[in-house]
Amino acid sequence: MYVAQPIEWTERGVVMLDQRRLPAEEISYTYTDYREVAKAIREMVIRGAPAIGVAAAMGAALGILQSSAKSLAALQSEFQEICDTLAKTRPTAVDLFWALERMKRRFAELTAETSDFAKIKQGMVDEARKIHLEKRTTDEAIGRFGAEFMPREGQVMTQCNAGALATGGIGTALGVIRVAFEQGRKLHVLVPETRPYLQGARLTAWELHKGGIPLTLITDNMVGHFLKSGKVGAIVTGADRIAANGDTANKIGTYQIAVLAKENKVPFYIAAPVSTFDLSIPDGEHIPIEERSAAEVTHLQGVRIAPDVHAAHPAFDVTPARYIAAIFTERGVARAPYNDSLRALARAGQPVATAR
Ligand code: MRU
Repeated sequence: MYVAQPIEWTERGVVMLDQRRLPAEEISYTYTDYREVAKAIREMVIRGAPAIGVAAAMGAALGILQSSAKSLAALQSEFQEICDTLAKTRPTAVDLFWALERMKRRFAELTAETSDFAKIKQGMVDEARKIHLEKRTTDEAIGRFGAEFMPREGQVMTQCNAGALATGGIGTALGVIRVAFEQGRKLHVLVPETRPYLQGARLTAWELHKGGIPLTLITDNMVGHFLKSGKVGAIVTGADRIAANGDTANKIGTYQIAVLAKENKVPFYIAAPVSTFDLSIPDGEHIPIEERSAAEVTHLQGVRIAPDVHAAHPAFDVTPARYIAAIFTERGVARAPYNDSLRALARAGQPVATAR
């Protein structure tokens, strides 16, 4: 089945598919400077929590590879600046910071092991590529755990785009749907368009259509109507940051879907890698919410659709843990109380499925 490739490390540089142009055009750019990679993350050429983590890792590797530092001290100070630039791009998705931490750890190991700059540079490139490769296995494991919770047939709903475009693997929420579909479950996906950036209409609809998975595109204000119909068997979305108590930040609009799901007795699930956990914060109140440009609300693809008034654009909202029936990860399935189950999964090196 078709799997979109949002990012790739090549000899020429970091190649990214411009997600802003989809579905109309499939255009890729090759980045040769880490500052350009940071700009691409900020401006949504690449988006989706795990994918921006991969982009940040590749940006860090690119920065080191291109460095002309002559001493270890100069290289270290340049690396700090590279990581700071990449960290300032988008504040909510914790995968970005997780990937940078991993690159920092590898840099510290490499510089302790050798003073050969060629080896340090190659080691950083290898680590970024490893992070990318791991997305595939991580997503597939999440997909296998989550597929068990999908209905044998009927409608399921998602939000935003948590597919291959958002991870560099097969996707988290869409990975669950994909694995369930490949297992023979006869699913039909309801795709809310996800205003204002339209990741649902532009990206999820595109991915599902290319993958041959039946879907119906709906506008965001149709969610309640469809959930009330009694025909939706499950909802599965991705996550940008999961606090220790299970409160989960995801694309704006996810919270209202979760509340409507509870009202209509539809199970609401999160699919996300363990790297999305932020156990350093007790609850969702501590999750920084990215505020994006109001022009993304007042304009659609550059065309003004509202008068010149004040507009708000919080890019994410937080769904309280009490609305989440389970969290699918690559190490197993977490259930409430999440303070215990998330910690157990974070500690576990090996897959540890919890009983359903
Ligand atoms: O602003 P975006 O497009 O980066 O937001 C993406 C989402 O909210 C996704 O649902 C989330 O990152 C999970 S992606 C597997």
